[in-house]
Amino acid sequence: MNKKQGYFITFEGTEGSGKSTQIQEAAAFLRSLGHRLLILREPGGTRISEVIREILLSRRFNELRPEAELLLYLAARSQIVHEKILPALHQGYVVICDRYEDSTLAYQGYGRDFSLKMIDRISRFVRGQVVPDRTFLLDIAPEIGLKRGGRSDRMEKQSMKFHRKVRQGFLKLAQKNRRRFVVIDSSQARDKVSEIIRERLQRDLG
Ligand code: TMP
Repeated sequence: MNKKQGYFITFEGTEGSGKSTQIQEAAAFLRSLGHRLLILREPGGTRISEVIREILLSRRFNELRPEAELLLYLAARSQIVHEKILPALHQGYVVICDRYEDSTLAYQGYGRDFSLKMIDRISRFVRGQVVPDRTFLLDIAPEIGLKRGGRSDRMEKQSMKFHRKVRQGFLKLAQKNRRRFVVIDSSQARDKVSEIIRERLQRDLG
């Protein structure tokens, strides 16, 4: 399960951090440089992972146990890695994924207090060598992000305390992986955020 060619980019952040918009902007830029792109989201991106997403996010399933939640995120990841991400990287695509393993560490690890070591072990089992080459963390206070977001799914309606722990978790992950992460203050103007991302992508892939 080795990653051979291609380039794997992930976008991370708490709710309403502006990932979707920035992914569209980054994709347009990378296309203009002539790269072949695959854009995905997690949980989701395959037939099975989209069904799992429905279980994870629907408020119909409020009784979902935290242990089951963790395992479902990882099950969804197993499908997308093997069905989509790895084949695309082998074919030389730039793969952009809206969330990936750092979300599991931030939400289920820091947010739900599950052991980071345990998550790391199961993650390796699930995704093998497929780790991001570059991760953009769009950082924003959850109070602002949740207002922007506008949805109200099972994860978004967790307590503010939970969302604050998740945000701090992301920042700690970024500190531990300084070479991979680019942390951007996402409360600034959207164009400014895109510009920082473009500059970095130009250096990575230009
Ligand atoms: P979103 O990508 O539309 O924001 O929805 C995904 C939700 O799932 C979001 O609240 C973050 C959460 N999530 C986790 O808790 N763990 C994970 O591993 C992933 C990928 C997402």
